Amino acid sequence: MTKSTELRARQTAAVPAGVSSKGIYVARAENSELWDVDGRRFIDFAAGIAVLNTGHRHPRVMEAVAQQAALFAHTCFHVASYESYIRLAERLNAVAPGDFAKKTLFLNSGAEAVENAIKIARIHTKRSAVIAFSGGFHGRTLLTMGLTGKVMPYKRGFGPFPAEIYHAEFPHAYHGVSTEQALADLDRLFHGDVDPTAVAAIIIEPVQGEGGFNVAPAEFLRALRQLCDEHGIVLIADEVQGGIARTGKMFSIEHSGVVPDLITVAKGLGGGFPLSGVIGRASIMDSAHPGGLGGTYGGNPIGIAAAHAVLDVIDAEDLFARATRVGQRMRSRLEALASDLPGIGDVRGIGSMIAFELVKDRKTKEPDAALTASILAQAEQRGLILLSCGVSANVVRLLAPLTIQDAVLEEGLDILAASLYAASGREAARAVA
Ligand SMILES: Cc1ncc(COP(=O)(O)O)c(C=O)c1O
Repeated sequence: MTKSTELRARQTAAVPAGVSSKGIYVARAENSELWDVDGRRFIDFAAGIAVLNTGHRHPRVMEAVAQQAALFAHTCFHVASYESYIRLAERLNAVAPGDFAKKTLFLNSGAEAVENAIKIARIHTKRSAVIAFSGGFHGRTLLTMGLTGKVMPYKRGFGPFPAEIYHAEFPHAYHGVSTEQALADLDRLFHGDVDPTAVAAIIIEPVQGEGGFNVAPAEFLRALRQLCDEHGIVLIADEVQGGIARTGKMFSIEHSGVVPDLITVAKGLGGGFPLSGVIGRASIMDSAHPGGLGGTYGGNPIGIAAAHAVLDVIDAEDLFARATRVGQRMRSRLEALASDLPGIGDVRGIGSMIAFELVKDRKTKEPDAALTASILAQAEQRGLILLSCGVSANVVRLLAPLTIQDAVLEEGLDILAASLYAASGREAARAVA
């Protein structure tokens, strides 16, 4: 019995089945590589689900954390405040899009950031309704599950969800939903279901993460901005997965030039330490009364110290450019593979947020979840960690650390190619460069 199988048995006995995991038990990790308890090496194309944009244990992050731990680990910002929290707010206010005064609040998780963004939008507008999108994912708390537009595994059996949440169609060119159709769906919502003057917020992931790396067209985001301005609605960009340099810009919405009112961040911000935040227009952020926002651990000093180092690393190592280069390499390898493997129906994404969709037939686009699962299994056997996504679980997403070394990236892509051929029951017909 390997140590991994032993741990699997202990997990099954001690941890609820709802907490699913791949069965990889880590012993240590460095940048884009991870070694398990049995000494197996893995290349990490998951990055802890888009958290480790600066890689596992980036030396600058580790040093910042150690220095902070030597001073104080927790006081609760509401009890004894610290300069590093204020300075991180200042830094994020400065880099977030928008030529207006901004403020930032820190929390622990992505879901908590989304919950707080909705609270702020509601108290500011004195309205209650919220519009989210099909295929969107915003977290696992009751409100954020309600906002999420993907039933399995997130919503089934966990309702009822909070009231006053409406879902509109997310534009998806590959699946035939144009910007015009998505806007017509919003119009339908405004006429059939909810008066726009009752809507506090529209929340959107500019690049959907769990929903399948679907990129919202710039013209759609511009139209949302216009609708929000027209009806006094707060536009929230959920940048929990797409933010912090992942797409080649600090926030994925910057590709469209659209300026949201509020931005939620988490994952990559803490470089592996739990930290999230809401950044936004000062006039909106200041709507809540003192004591209305916050929490015991929100903006924990260790997470804040790590985030300062993450922002320093993005700057020092030019991770915006690196995200673009790594993504280009992934995309060109995938496009070459798609020319040989008909199961790959679509390759999409921006920067280093790249995914491919697996279909049984390129014409009908019938999802192939079984092939997707088989690719993940083949990759894992060969030492590559991959994640799936998509409402029909038929999309493979590539989320390597932006700091991945070229040689490790190429090795990972070679394993990906071999896994694709093996799962498709095909020999590699030719070298796919
Ligand atoms: C876009 C988006 N929002 C919110 C969340 C929830 O974040 P967390 O798991 O930290 O609560 C996620 C997590 O994957 C996400 O991708």
